[in-house]
Amino acid sequence: MLIARTFSELRDANKKLAGSLGLVPTMGALHEGHLALIKAARAGSGKVAASIFVNPLQFAPNEDFARYPRDEPGDLAKLASAGCDLVWLPDVATMYPEDAATTISVGGPADLWEGAARPGHFAGVATVVAKLFGQVRPQAAYFGEKDWQQVQVIRRMATDLLLSVQIVPVPTVREKDGLALSSRNRFLTPAERQAAPALYAALAQAALAIAGGTPAAEALAQAETLLAKAGMLTDYLVLVDTQSLAPLQSAIAPARIIAAARLGSVRLLDNVRV
Ligand code: PAF
Repeated sequence: MLIARTFSELRDANKKLAGSLGLVPTMGALHEGHLALIKAARAGSGKVAASIFVNPLQFAPNEDFARYPRDEPGDLAKLASAGCDLVWLPDVATMYPEDAATTISVGGPADLWEGAARPGHFAGVATVVAKLFGQVRPQAAYFGEKDWQQVQVIRRMATDLLLSVQIVPVPTVREKDGLALSSRNRFLTPAERQAAPALYAALAQAALAIAGGTPAAEALAQAETLLAKAGMLTDYLVLVDTQSLAPLQSAIAPARIIAAARLGSVRLLDNVRV
């Protein structure tokens, strides 16, 4: 596995890996969900590159940038055994030189939900992802569906900026009890970890109810009650159009339920298809 930390190392590595390249952008602290992205990239693209960069631009000052988990040796070992060909490990000065003056402004699917709860977050995501595409030059890039809205924002950005990168969503990997894998799950206390699967259970139940004819508002209210019983504070729990993320009153269009809920100090995200 090639490791690049500077542009010249990245250029050399790119030459060695001539041919079709799939990129898995990550912020490290890798888990089975990330390894599923590597697996999908191996199946879909000839060679696989992963990037590890905890992107300061997507964290607000009051968010958890400093405590975001970092484990470079552990991540490199996991990537090597998953068959990754190249790891790109830029530092902050490489990604954001002092004289940098350009960021990407996002609208459409970025406007509501996570976009409203975390102003500037998706602009930070879109900017770093566009830079990673420019640096690594992949034909395809792989993103986890757990962050459903993020995938739609990146897809929109790649389409609008005419970036010739195929955006490939990969299904969420879950623990046996349904909890979606996330690098932030490690911050759950044992009691919170026990309660956390209620999020997926509530979403799955609401999706079934809506598909079975229960009015969406009623099914979503029931789901929110389940979350409250499990000790969670719901930020949003909504039925949305799968691509535009516009709110829906019923599942007439392709629809998804997306949710964010707080459990102790951890904000859990999840979503299900209806
Ligand atoms: O999903 C993530 O880990 C990040 O938002 C991403 C896509 C790597 C951009 O920093």
